Amino acid sequence: MSEQKSSEQKPAEYSGPQRVFSGVQPSGSLHLGNYLGALVKFVAMQDQYPCIFCVVDLHAITVPQDPKLLAAQTREIAAAYLAAGVDPKKAIIFAQSSVLAHAELGWIFNCVARMGWVERMTQFKDKSSGKDAENISVGLFDYPVLQAADILAYKATHVPVGEDQKQHLELSRDIAAKFNRDFNAPGFFPLPEPIYQGPGARIMSLKDGTKKMSKSDPSDASRINLLDTADDIAKKIKRATSDSDLLPSDVKGLAGRAEAANLVGIYAVLNGQSEQDVLNEFGGHGFGKFKPALADLAVAKLGPVADTMRRLMNDPGEVDRVLKSGGERANEIAAPVMDEVRKVIGFWRP
Ligand code: TRP
Repeated sequence: MSEQKSSEQKPAEYSGPQRVFSGVQPSGSLHLGNYLGALVKFVAMQDQYPCIFCVVDLHAITVPQDPKLLAAQTREIAAAYLAAGVDPKKAIIFAQSSVLAHAELGWIFNCVARMGWVERMTQFKDKSSGKDAENISVGLFDYPVLQAADILAYKATHVPVGEDQKQHLELSRDIAAKFNRDFNAPGFFPLPEPIYQGPGARIMSLKDGTKKMSKSDPSDASRINLLDTADDIAKKIKRATSDSDLLPSDVKGLAGRAEAANLVGIYAVLNGQSEQDVLNEFGGHGFGKFKPALADLAVAKLGPVADTMRRLMNDPGEVDRVLKSGGERANEIAAPVMDEVRKVIGFWRP
């Protein structure tokens, strides 16, 4: 590598305030993986940073959604944020479509992002392969560009996401850097940092410990939905795939035992312990003892979350107030950023 020439000035870096932004799609029901991998982590961040948590309904319509259900699904995600413990007095909770800056900045970023960059996105390649490839929406291709706009409309500096969003976050950074360079506005946008959610970020299917727990898995038994009853939860855990060996007393003994590792991992995150702590208690025992303990723990931890979600969804007034005031507060942050963006680009202004 050649040395950096002393005459080459490094571009100025963003020096504004730090802010967290993340989003969850209102499509299908939330499961344990979303809860432990995203919502619980969001709650932990709200005391460290100013946080904005979005229900990304513009992203949801990249694939067909039922207009009769979309608003209810949006309320459901907002209810899940609240039930998990996101405090609307601290963090902003809002619906993406209620703040116009997302769509506007998304368009502007369409003109900054390069085809080659977006064509490399593996999530798009996975979703667009197959026989119906010609019939997917342009929006699905453009999805990660809108994601960059979500983050940068607030000049957010930190983005808690799952590892599967790594490439999308890199694209956001590339777009921010190119905008700053192209419009000669050094440090205008921050280069947002992903925060990968540590243990608990990868909750695997209850039927196959090598696949992520997913709302698109056709088998409902493969996941614990946030709104499952205590009975469902217990049944699903008892029927989860495991093996016939005893649990090891050391975490190293979980290597090569994907299902055992997943169940121990779930126990650990639900109980706020390390996997080794769990094995100190259950090592040497079989699943006949471990699964009922895990089922009890899961019911004890998730039951109250589900109850709160149901209460909020039965009386949407509270959720609607949160979303409305969240949208207003979000707009107050994004609107001045968009004013600056328009000025930097050189759009006509009265
Ligand atoms: N693409 C994200 C996901 O599937 C959701 C999302 C949309 C998001 N916009 C975002 C996440 C902005 C973080 C920041 O999980």
